[in-house]
Amino acid sequence: MLIKQTLDTKKIREDFPIFKQLTHNKPLIYLDNGATSQKPVQVIDAMNRFYNEYNSNVHRGVYKISELATHAYEEAHRKTADFIKAEFEEVIFTKGTTESLNLLAYTLGRTLKQGDEIVLSQMEHHSNLVPWQQLAKQKGLALKFIRITKDYKLDMAHAREIITPKTKIVSIVHVSNVLGTINPVKELAALAHKNGALFVIDGAQSIQHLPINVKELDCDFFAFSGHKMLGPTGIGVLYGKRHLLEHMEPFLYGGDMISEVQFEHSTWNELPWKFEAGTPNITEAIGLAAAIDYLKEINMEHIKEYEEELTTYALETLSNIKGVRVYGPTEAGDRGSVIAFNVEGIHPHDVSTILDREGIAVRGGHHCAMPLMNLLGVTGTVRASFSFYNTTEEIDKLAQAIKKAQEVFK
Ligand SMILES: Cc1ncc(COP(=O)(O)O)c(C=O)c1O
Repeated sequence: MLIKQTLDTKKIREDFPIFKQLTHNKPLIYLDNGATSQKPVQVIDAMNRFYNEYNSNVHRGVYKISELATHAYEEAHRKTADFIKAEFEEVIFTKGTTESLNLLAYTLGRTLKQGDEIVLSQMEHHSNLVPWQQLAKQKGLALKFIRITKDYKLDMAHAREIITPKTKIVSIVHVSNVLGTINPVKELAALAHKNGALFVIDGAQSIQHLPINVKELDCDFFAFSGHKMLGPTGIGVLYGKRHLLEHMEPFLYGGDMISEVQFEHSTWNELPWKFEAGTPNITEAIGLAAAIDYLKEINMEHIKEYEEELTTYALETLSNIKGVRVYGPTEAGDRGSVIAFNVEGIHPHDVSTILDREGIAVRGGHHCAMPLMNLLGVTGTVRASFSFYNTTEEIDKLAQAIKKAQEVFK
C-alpha cells in the first residue's frame, strides 16, 4: 500500500538534530512519541537564545532584558491560547498534564461533598485516575467508570446510564495512550452539561495530532503537556473557561499570584496569573511558543491527515504479521497514531529490547494504565506511537524487526 505523502518528511526531519545520530550503529527510528516527542532545532534555538541573550525573571524588573523576558513569556501564553482557540485569560501554564489534572482535583475538590459523583472511563492514564481516586477517598465521593466495548470504544449507553444529576465532574481522555481510541468528547460534554456536571478533557495524546478548538468541544477544562508537542519538558497547560477559573480558589500560593498582601489576608491577581505562583518555567514557555509556531507552519490539518495515512499503513502492516495482536479500533479514522500490540509468546519487554537493537525505540509495559491492562488481560503491551516525522519505511523496518524477534524466540 502506498500513501499519499501529504508532508515532506525528508525536509521536516532535517529540523530534528536527534535524527542525525546513530543508535546501535543504525539510524534512530523513534516510535515512542506517545511518551514524548522529539524537538526541532527551532525550539532548541529559542530556548538557547533566551539563556544567551535575555535571561531574567518575568513580571518583576523594569530593565530592558526583563521586559523582553516578560514580553516573550506573555507572548507564549497568547500563542498557546490562540493554538487551542481560547482567550488569553483562560490559559494557565503548569508543569504538565499531570499537574493540570492535580490542580483541578485539588481546587474543584474543595467544592465537592460526600455522595457527589465523579465519572471517568476505563481507559484513563493514571494521571487522570489517581488524583480523582484520592480525592474520592478523602471526601467520601463515588467514582464511576464508563465501560469499554469489545471494539475498544467507550460504551456511550453506559455513559448515559452513569452520568446523572449526582455527577459533578466527568473527566475523560481525548485520545487513549494505549488503545489510540479517539473519544466522542463533544457528545460527552453535552451529556455532562445536561446533568449539571463539569467536563474535563485529558488532551495529552491529542494536542500534537488533532487541531484543537476548546470552544467547539465545549469542554470546561482541557489539559496537555508541552513535551508531547515538540516543546520541552516542564511546561504544560490547563485551559479553563474564564467564568469557572474566576470563581475557583488558587492552587498554589506565593509570589506573582497575589494582588495585595497584608499580614492577615491577601487578594488574588487577575487571570491567568492567579494560578501561576512563583517564578514560572520561562525558558520552557518560550520553547513551547516556538513549538506552536512550528506546528502551525506545518499545519495541524495536514498533520492529522498524514498521521491517519501512516496509521492505516501501520495497522495493515502489523495485522499481516502472524502472531501479532493489536489492541484498539481497527479504522484509522476512529483512532490516533498510537498502536499497542503483543507478539504471541514473547514478553513485551523482550520485543522492545530486540527492536532497540535494530535502532527502533518503542515502549513496552503498562503505559501508566494498569487497570486497562487488567481489563485487556495482559500485564503489558508493546506500543508504537507515530508522529508526522515518521515514515512508511520506518514502519516496514518495524515489521522486519518484529519478524526477527519471532525468529529469535522460535
Ligand atoms: C493520556 C495521558 N494523560 C496524561 C499523561 C501525563 O502526561 P505528563 O507525564 O506529561 O504529565 C500522559 C502521558 O503519557 C498521557 O498519555
